[in-house]
Amino acid sequence: MKRLAAGNWKMNGSSASMAEVQALLGQHPNPSCEMLLCPPATLVAQMAWAAKSSALLVGGQDCHANASGAHTGDVSAAMLKDAGASHVILGHSERRADHHETNLLVNQKTISAWSAGLCAIVCVGETEAERDAGVTLSLISDQLAGSIPDGATSENLVIAYEPVWAIGTGRTPTLVQIGEVHDHIRAQLTARFGSNAAEMRLLYGGSVKPSNAAEIFAVPNVDGALVGGASLKAADFGAIVAALSI
Ligand code: PGA
Repeated sequence: MKRLAAGNWKMNGSSASMAEVQALLGQHPNPSCEMLLCPPATLVAQMAWAAKSSALLVGGQDCHANASGAHTGDVSAAMLKDAGASHVILGHSERRADHHETNLLVNQKTISAWSAGLCAIVCVGETEAERDAGVTLSLISDQLAGSIPDGATSENLVIAYEPVWAIGTGRTPTLVQIGEVHDHIRAQLTARFGSNAAEMRLLYGGSVKPSNAAEIFAVPNVDGALVGGASLKAADFGAIVAALSI
């Protein structure tokens, strides 16, 4: 399995940020892990152009469940593909919270992504209140069961475990807590998708930075990271790529 360092720029970045892409490619022209950046939709085509013939993959941060139509302000999976994307993040906790996205909607978006030939990065994770209530594993089971359509393979699906309370806060779960959830996700996927599940990438996300990346990547069943804030600067994201490439 090739491990995956994925960056989520969220609502950040402009044309000037392409300098970070060039810097990243300068640092890692040929990384041994996969390297993906997901800029805002306005920059997907520009970044895909900048990354042409390089090791950098480009993805979207969301897509509509429908292929086209009267949905003002939305972007379809086919449009992302056409702009040069290979991946799309779906069901990020910020979208689940800000846009009331349900597991069912994430499931429909995943089908749409697959129809367009994109690999879906489906995000799951508990809030702090849910962790305190001791329902983390059952909640993750429900999110996986509801958000992932039948037909998932290691080619078309990546899972990102992102505890909501760790996103953008500088706080991370203990390595034992990360390992417990990742083992649980692998077991759930294996029960449903059989031997395919062994090769599915399970990313950890939430305050991953150069200083904690190596220890997180050493946890069994952690196959990479989904990185927010630290993906905006080539120096930081490059250091995380380096930690994953060992
Ligand atoms: P963060 O965000 O690395 O800034 O915590 C992670 C994410 O939301 O994907």
